[in-house]
Amino acid sequence: MILDDPSVHELIRQRWSPRAFDGLRAVDRGEVMTLLEAARWAPSCYNTQPWRYIVALRENKAAFDRILACLVDVNQVWAKEAAVLMISLARKLHDHNGKPNRWAWHDVGAANAQLTLQATAMGLVVHQMAGYDPEAVRRLYSLHDLFDPVTILALGYPGSPEQLDGPLRDRELAPRQRKSMEKIAFNGEWGKPL
Ligand SMILES: Cc1cc2nc3c(=O)[nH]c(=O)nc-3n(C[C@H](O)[C@H](O)[C@H](O)COP(=O)(O)O)c2cc1C
Repeated sequence: MILDDPSVHELIRQRWSPRAFDGLRAVDRGEVMTLLEAARWAPSCYNTQPWRYIVALRENKAAFDRILACLVDVNQVWAKEAAVLMISLARKLHDHNGKPNRWAWHDVGAANAQLTLQATAMGLVVHQMAGYDPEAVRRLYSLHDLFDPVTILALGYPGSPEQLDGPLRDRELAPRQRKSMEKIAFNGEWGKPL
């Protein structure tokens, strides 16, 4: 399945989550700052801006390896070729009243989506992961209870599926899947197709 509807913006059509990165092409600090600026301007509940990022460029090997070590093995195999790894985190309380922010993770997702589309516009690819050990993140970064790790993002310039081994290459080349519109969008009442 491909997203070939020309009325959907080209950036959204282009975006996907590959596992093959160009391991030789670095992403510089300026590019990373642009990505984070795109994230920073995401909408959020009460403008609380619950998103936080721990960032490691590959040139900073100790920092990069620390994030890499939090990932499950099946993600490490390909994410080690990324130019940048980031941990996205959510601050769980609202700023204005100190009460739990039920939308914190939602808003981190929105910031990550903006970051990802900005990356796409810059010719970069982003692959988010839930396959990591949140307790390892807590331990390695002495994370305060107020914060939850949300996803780890691998990003860089795209590589080629040929650089991946067997099953990973198959997944890279497999058709993308989406639920049908009837399953996700309803016309005024639950379950009625639009
Ligand atoms: C919150 C989240 C967690 C994910 N976790 C993983 C992961 O641990 N490993 C992985 O290979 N892909 C992971 N993905 C990528 C999804 O599998 C991918 O987005 C989905 O299959 C749709 O493909 P597309 O992004 O290319 O459209 C994750 C994506 C998101 C948004």
